[in-house]
Amino acid sequence: MRVVSCNSFAPVDQLVVEDRPSLPLGEGQVRVAVAACGVNFVDALIVQGLYQLKPTVPFVPGGEVAGTVVEVAPDVTTHSVGERVFVTTGLSGGYSSEVVVPAFRALPTPATITDAQAATFVQSYCTAWFALKYRARAQEGEWVLVLGAGGGVGLAAVDVAHSMGLKVIAAASSESKRELALAAGADAVIDTANEDVKTRAKELSGGGVHHVYDPVGGDLTEAGLRSLRDDGQLLVVGFAAGEIPKLPANQILLRNRRVTGVDWGGWTVTHGAENVQLLADVIAAVGRGELHPVVPRTYPLADVAEALTDQLERRAVGKSVLVP
Ligand SMILES: NC(=O)c1ccc[n+]([C@@H]2O[C@H](COP(=O)([O-])OP(=O)(O)OC[C@H]3O[C@@H](n4cnc5c(N)ncnc54)[C@H](OP(=O)(O)O)[C@@H]3O)[C@@H](O)[C@H]2O)c1
Repeated sequence: MRVVSCNSFAPVDQLVVEDRPSLPLGEGQVRVAVAACGVNFVDALIVQGLYQLKPTVPFVPGGEVAGTVVEVAPDVTTHSVGERVFVTTGLSGGYSSEVVVPAFRALPTPATITDAQAATFVQSYCTAWFALKYRARAQEGEWVLVLGAGGGVGLAAVDVAHSMGLKVIAAASSESKRELALAAGADAVIDTANEDVKTRAKELSGGGVHHVYDPVGGDLTEAGLRSLRDDGQLLVVGFAAGEIPKLPANQILLRNRRVTGVDWGGWTVTHGAENVQLLADVIAAVGRGELHPVVPRTYPLADVAEALTDQLERRAVGKSVLVP
C-alpha cells in the first residue's frame, strides 16, 4: 500500500510518500481500498506538531477516507466485499491507499454522494451541526454570520444553517469562496478583504446577527463579536488565521452577548453515544439530499505537500482530497 508518512514534526514539505506492505486483517476488521483521503486544515497543524493532540511519530496523517470494502474478516457479518464505505480514522491513518479498521467504523456511503464527497464531509459537517444545533441552539429565521465561509468547516456551516432555515451571511476573502457560499445557500456575502465586517453584517441583518460562527480567529473575531445583536452569541470554532484572539470583555457585557466554545472533537470523546446519533443525523440529512457536501478538489497522494500548503496559505476553496 502507498502511504504518506510523517517521520518528525516538521513543515509539510518534509512528508514522505512511500510503499509499505499491506496490514494484516484481524478479527472484526475490514480492509478498505481508499478512493479518496479527505484533507483537513487540522492535518497540516498535526504534522507540524502545532495541534493540541500529538500522535507518536512516525505516523500516517489524515483522519477521514472513503472507498470500497475489499476484504472482510471471517467473523464480520455486517459488511461485504464491494460495499462503498467511509471511515473516520481519528487523528491519523487516513493518507493511505488502504485502511484496515474495525467493521463498525466503516459506514455505508450515502448513494447521493461520491467517494470524494464522502471522504470530506464528516469533520466539517459534524462540527457545523454540533455548533449550530447543540451549542448555539439556533432557530429558524435567525441570522448567522459565518466567517471563513469558503473554507471546509465554514462552507459546511453555510449549508447546515441554510437547511435549518437560518438567514446566512457568508464572509470570505475571495470571489470564488463567496460564490461557493452563495451556491451553498448563503443569503448575502461580505468581502472580508475590502468591506468592514461589523458594519456590513449589521446592515444586512437589520441591526446585528444572532450568531457568529468563527473558524478563523485573528482580527475577524472581534469584528464578529461587535456585529452581534442583544443576547447574540459568538461560536469559537477555530483559529485558521493562526492568532488566538483576545476579546474585550466589555463587548461581551454590552448587549448581554455570549461567547460559546465549540470543541466537537473533544466532545466526541466524552459523549460517544450522542456523537453516534449526531453522525447518524448528519448522514441521514446527506442521504435525503438536505445537505450538499461540496465536490472537492483532487490532488494525487504524491502532491500531499501542495494540498496542505494550499490549505495553510488560504488558496483551498471548499474541500480537498488526496487520491492514492
Ligand atoms: N472546533 C472544532 O471542533 C473544529 C473542527 C474542525 C476544524 N476546526 C478548526 O477550524 C479551522 C478551519 O478549518 P477548515 O478546515 O475550515 O480550514 P480551511 O478550509 O483552510 O478554511 C479556513 C479559512 O480561514 C480563513 N483564513 C484566514 N486567515 C487564514 C490563514 N492565515 N491561513 C488559512 N486560512 C485562513 C480562510 O478564509 P478567507 O480566505 O475567506 O479568510 C480559509 O478559507 C481550523 O483552525 C480547524 O482546526 C475546529
